[in-house]
Amino acid sequence: MCGIVGYIGTAPAAPLLIEGLSRLEYRGYDSAGIAVLGSSGLRVTKKAGRVRDLDEALPKRLAGKIGVGHTRWATHGAATDANAHPHCDATGKVSVVHNGIVDNAASLRDRLTDDGVEFHSETDTEVIAHLIGRSAADTLEEAVLEALAAVQGTYGLAVLHADHPDRIVVARNGSPLIVGVGDKEMWVASDVAALVRYTRQVVYLDDGELATVTAGGFTTFTSDRQPTQKRPTTVDLSVEDYDEGEHRHFMRKEILDQADAAERILRGRLDERFGTAHLGGLNLDPRASRAIQRVKILGCGSAYYVGQLGAGLVEELARIPADAEPASEFRYRNPVIERDTLYVAVSQSGETIDTLLAVQEIKRKGGRVIGLINVVGSTIARECDGGIYLHAGPEVAVASTKALTNMAIGFALLALHLGRVRDLSVSDGKRIIAGLQRLPAQIDQIVAADEDLSTVAGVLAEAQSLFFVGRVRGYPVAREGAQKFKEISYRHAEAYQTSELKHGPLALISDQVPTVAIVPDDALCDRNVAALHEIAARKGPLVVVTHAGVDLGHVDATRIDVPQNEPEIDPILLTIPLQILAYHAAVKLGHDVDKPRNLAKSVTVE
Ligand code: G6P
Repeated sequence: MCGIVGYIGTAPAAPLLIEGLSRLEYRGYDSAGIAVLGSSGLRVTKKAGRVRDLDEALPKRLAGKIGVGHTRWATHGAATDANAHPHCDATGKVSVVHNGIVDNAASLRDRLTDDGVEFHSETDTEVIAHLIGRSAADTLEEAVLEALAAVQGTYGLAVLHADHPDRIVVARNGSPLIVGVGDKEMWVASDVAALVRYTRQVVYLDDGELATVTAGGFTTFTSDRQPTQKRPTTVDLSVEDYDEGEHRHFMRKEILDQADAAERILRGRLDERFGTAHLGGLNLDPRASRAIQRVKILGCGSAYYVGQLGAGLVEELARIPADAEPASEFRYRNPVIERDTLYVAVSQSGETIDTLLAVQEIKRKGGRVIGLINVVGSTIARECDGGIYLHAGPEVAVASTKALTNMAIGFALLALHLGRVRDLSVSDGKRIIAGLQRLPAQIDQIVAADEDLSTVAGVLAEAQSLFFVGRVRGYPVAREGAQKFKEISYRHAEAYQTSELKHGPLALISDQVPTVAIVPDDALCDRNVAALHEIAARKGPLVVVTHAGVDLGHVDATRIDVPQNEPEIDPILLTIPLQILAYHAAVKLGHDVDKPRNLAKSVTVE
């Protein structure tokens, strides 16, 4: 949520900052700005709208080989030119870009206003710029440290100062910040996406750490002014990972990448001989695995819905009571943390603040947390006691697809691993392994049916309101399907247990309200089909995501047949056509598929 980029070196900064911001736009995209320091001082350009709007608004001549930029997702104050970052102090010498939230911004603002400071925006960030600008310290580092001593809250920030034109000072507390190392040039960013075009040598700052970045190098230190020793690490990513390539949208590219992504998460983890999964990163020995009495899964948005699907897998395969809860709620009900519960944090970005805070709360109270995380080295991954990396590769579209599929596969691996040190038989273990091995080819089969799904999506897109229904294994699938549909098509899509329809929502069924029903070939199939009859009797249009063997009787429905796997694994496959339906509906409605309104890829504010 929000992106930061900074450059210092030998080349003109502005085009590099714009390029970096366009790579970060998925993190937030309601306004953007850059500050460049040249011989005529600090020049700031900022604009509500997209990075391309900012690019068009830049002055023709914008010299300067040092600068910072930001792309924003509004928290304090609307998405206006004035509220866009960078923010300056009263003298116009200081320029700050900031991710995170200053919790005591209101009181700092009052104090500064009493001292005669005039504010130009409604943001919390502007207080930091004024605090730095008003410092009497000799060095920029000391001024930043003084300012941050007054700030409560979270930040990843980068600071430019016209009186210190040879450096950018950056700081991290709760919001990611990295330094990119080049040859006589250096970068700073909130996300490697901004840097991979220029360097793959990066340094991850820790919370409470700051860095001075000059064209020749960097030094790091703590907020207690103690130097720290950091070595650059090489990131295993390339610029193509952040390019749409031949695809019209990132979401489409990511949907199509799912079979490869599934292969990546499975690679080296399946033990065919013993019918189990090798998950070395879990840091759980068999004795600890057997001692687990309960599994509690925490995630937000789509990750929470996949967590629900994962809880089903853990209960079915490992016979351990399991449930999922939105991480955003968990911390606020003073949860009882149990020593024999395995807590699982699930997150694509590894930066979602609600999930992170839930992890920290569990750890504070002595609980054990593992992570199912996509971004290697991310904050949540580092906080957890162990975990399973998802290896889905970078995901840029806000609506998650391949990362979600790999989360679900990650849960299957976890459930298999836990099951095999408990009650799951070797033959069932082998059956699940064979099922997991079939997944990539079956995923490819589903995405190959893209054209048929596009036609169905066209019909669904015309409705103002839709139901997504499923039972037991199919219910999390329906929830995720509704979430995906609403977030990119902006249609009202509501998920229900099929069994609950007749307890209320059936009143809403009409020829104007289609239902997408998940009907796997399992023990509940007949009951599901009976519910379809009830919907059809009320003239509700039906799209049924099902298996070829399922007989829908004489119900008038559009059916989408999904390749069948093992019943426990089927939900993973059943979600994929729902992604494709949502995608095509959004395309047909002319929406910005990759950057849906009001949302951002990773929500790093509470
Ligand atoms: C945001 C996104 C959702 C995503 C959720 C969790 O709300 O809009 O699509 O599912 O964050 O993100 P995470 O990175 O933790 O998986």
